[in-house]
Amino acid sequence: MKQLLIKNIKQLVQVEKENQPYIAGAQMAQLPSIDNAYLLIKGAYISAYGPMSELNEAALPADVEVIDATDRLVLPAWCDSHTHLVYPKSRDVEYVDKIKGLSYEEIAARGGGILNSAKLMQTASEDQLFDDAMVRLQEIITWGTGAVEIKSGYGLTLDSELKMLRVIKRLKEASPLTIKSTFLGAHSIPMEYRGQQEKYVDLVINEMLPAVAKEKLADYVDVFCDVGFFTVEDTDRILNAAAKYGLTPKIHANELDYSGGIQVGVKYNALSVDHLEFTGEEEMKALKDSGTMPTILPGAAFFLNMAYAPARQMMAAGLPVALASDFNPGSSPSGNMQLIMAMGSVLYRMLPEEVIHAVTKNTAYAMGVDKELGSICVGKKANVVITKPIPGIEYLPYAYGENKVETTILNGAVS
Ligand code: NIG
Ligand code: FE
Repeated sequence: MKQLLIKNIKQLVQVEKENQPYIAGAQMAQLPSIDNAYLLIKGAYISAYGPMSELNEAALPADVEVIDATDRLVLPAWCDSHTHLVYPKSRDVEYVDKIKGLSYEEIAARGGGILNSAKLMQTASEDQLFDDAMVRLQEIITWGTGAVEIKSGYGLTLDSELKMLRVIKRLKEASPLTIKSTFLGAHSIPMEYRGQQEKYVDLVINEMLPAVAKEKLADYVDVFCDVGFFTVEDTDRILNAAAKYGLTPKIHANELDYSGGIQVGVKYNALSVDHLEFTGEEEMKALKDSGTMPTILPGAAFFLNMAYAPARQMMAAGLPVALASDFNPGSSPSGNMQLIMAMGSVLYRMLPEEVIHAVTKNTAYAMGVDKELGSICVGKKANVVITKPIPGIEYLPYAYGENKVETTILNGAVS
């Protein structure tokens, strides 16, 4: 089997002897690392690591491929547990409306926003969607992402939702990234259902969910549970129906108000609840020891000029925190997880160590890949990044405009 040795690593970051599901509270500030280290990869998996002093290079096969990582750090590749990166077109015109002062709800109420993308989706071809998404995937690999969750939700009709999910299925087969797909039929209420949204919820439950399950097109189910979108009752009905198909929730919650979304997500053992700008004591109590990962999406809060989720209070309460990109054309038009790390640190006052856990271990958990990804651990998939020569981990969130990643290795191969 092919072996790849990365040697003379200045710092091998996020090493774990035994895999923990996620990192919470004060532990997030501890980042186990090894200075002057090596990492050995066999096939697609991590087979050994340690200090250079323990490396017996002579014992390796003659054809081992060697990368010299002098002055460079090696970390697990980022896991981006929340994106909408299959979409037909950018929405830069709306962006100007936003700058002029229109709110996210105002744009949505007049048929813009998600409905704008949904209209374009009706006529978009599967091949075009696939090609455009492949370009986006290629780009996020260069920024160091190794795994990504992608949602439907710009279809909002049976056919278009299935079209999006089939595109995600093709992406899973064609891309070296680890990809998970999420069915988000309940992303927005189509115009013709306004005032009778329970009928749209019926459609999601009675037609979309069975078809998605039949074709095995989704790993997870999502609902945008927030003011102006889906109510707690709608969400409860959808998650209850989805559970019958074995679909675990990962939901949009508490972005626009104290919507009750966090609590209903926890009730259905959601893998994650995402956004969380409106999180108070009650919500944190519900999340404590729940197994539901609180996931903050700094790109959307920044772009929409929202209040920021209380990351420090969450960690002080002993909760884990994950950070994902929310890459989408309406509220976060970037999948650059290094930028998300910078935002996590500057806007949410998270330490570099905390930010690194938040985009690796904790997002791996939030997308259900924590057993195979998220840390440097023997037996895990070899999805790692080698940085350019940089001073240390602090430089990762600090130099926010620069690509600090030189090489992304996915499944043991340079991508
Ligand atoms: O996560 N909050 C809801 N949905 C997306 C926005 C999608 C869009 O505006 O196209 C989000 O921010
Ligand atoms: Fe989102």
